[in-house]
Amino acid sequence: MKRIKLSNRLMALAEMIDEGASVLDVGTDHGFLPVFLAQTGSVNRIYASDISAASLERACKTAADHGLSEVITFFEGSGLACMTPTQVDTIVIAGLGGESILSILKDAPWTQSRGMKLILQPQTKVDLLCRFLYDNGYTIRDTKSVLDKGKYYTIILVAGV
Ligand SMILES: C[S@@+](CC[C@H](N)C(=O)[O-])C[C@H]1O[C@@H](n2cnc3c(N)ncnc32)[C@H](O)[C@@H]1O
Repeated sequence: MKRIKLSNRLMALAEMIDEGASVLDVGTDHGFLPVFLAQTGSVNRIYASDISAASLERACKTAADHGLSEVITFFEGSGLACMTPTQVDTIVIAGLGGESILSILKDAPWTQSRGMKLILQPQTKVDLLCRFLYDNGYTIRDTKSVLDKGKYYTIILVAGV
């Protein structure tokens, strides 16, 4: 099956995911990241969710086109409502506005659990999201700037101790 090719931005996210992780991609849309992870075989479990039925359908189609429908678990729903902390240790929320990411985290305080890794890539309001993280006891371990098709994106790595 053909290997999926990620953009620089999505590749930078993928590179931050540890081998053997159980990953949820929130707001997956096209599903490129979960399909890439499934192809590498480097992670343990892969979940993908989206609030939009049309987006989730796109993701399911990407998985089916690559023969990976059985490897990825898809959920339709908002934020982290579909998950419990026992299912995942790594959460990717990318391509959403900073305020939306903040609101998703606010509704799921368990994201601060020990050992939980958050990989966040806000499209807007980076400062606001960072302020929220600092004010609410999250620890920012790293930030990264990625150039993709002439535009810079900030990735924030939040990891519990
Ligand atoms: C621009 S796409 C980003 C796709 C992919 N994550 C990426 O970085 O390329 C944003 C996706 O987030 C979804 N979305 C927006 N708000 C959401 C929420 N609260 N929970 C889950 N998905 C959401 C949208 O339906 C859309 O498919």
